[in-house]
Amino acid sequence: MLKIVLSVLLLALFVGLSIGGIHLYKVAKRNAQEMAQFEGEKESVRPLPGKTLIVYYSLSGHTKDIAERIQKMTNADLYEIKTAEKINQTPWFYLTLRKQLKDKSYPKLSGKLPDFSRYDTVFVGAPVWWYTVATPMRAFLQQADFAGKKVVPFSTQGSNFGTYFEDFAQMAQNAKLQKSAAFNNLPDKYNQAVDNKIARWINSL
Ligand SMILES: Cc1cc2nc3c(=O)[nH]c(=O)nc-3n(C[C@H](O)[C@H](O)[C@H](O)COP(=O)(O)O)c2cc1C
Repeated sequence: MLKIVLSVLLLALFVGLSIGGIHLYKVAKRNAQEMAQFEGEKESVRPLPGKTLIVYYSLSGHTKDIAERIQKMTNADLYEIKTAEKINQTPWFYLTLRKQLKDKSYPKLSGKLPDFSRYDTVFVGAPVWWYTVATPMRAFLQQADFAGKKVVPFSTQGSNFGTYFEDFAQMAQNAKLQKSAAFNNLPDKYNQAVDNKIARWINSL
């Protein structure tokens, strides 16, 4: 009996690891295909008209990294959305966050909202959580009024941004939405290509 249980468990582990491995392989291949178009010489960035702000939320640093790259290229001001209470990355936090999304129970934020009146363009970026906009960004969008401002949305994700941009568009109050960009988490070998992707995106705005 024990032998049968162990065999079933081993088989399940093998199938799970194989599916995971195939998924990672496919994502890596898709990333390589996408980033190939951004390889080559460092591309220059045309300055954006007026004053620019970058608002971002980041739990584990990926969105912060993209926000800071945009900042270097645009000389914009940076504003980080922070939750009043730290989000604990327990073994079950993925499920906790999914429940919060489902229940629309978003975290309290700390600090004051930025003064949008000082800016013409606002980049707004967050991680994708469960195929949509992360809850701290949702909390921010409930309070922010972008009246008269050009809003440039961006996301970071493992590989699938789901309905992030449609959901963002519905929540960004009075925003004049501009072209968005989605950034998969990538290994360092793509650093230059990521910068070129950002440069081309900014130049297209
Ligand atoms: C709760 C949770 C849910 C996630 N859901 C998705 C998802 O649906 N699709 C995806 O591609 N990545 C998903 N991810 C991965 C993050 O979007 C990705 O790692 C992102 O770059 C993290 O940004 P940050 O480092 O700025 O927090 C999820 C991560 C967390 C913590």
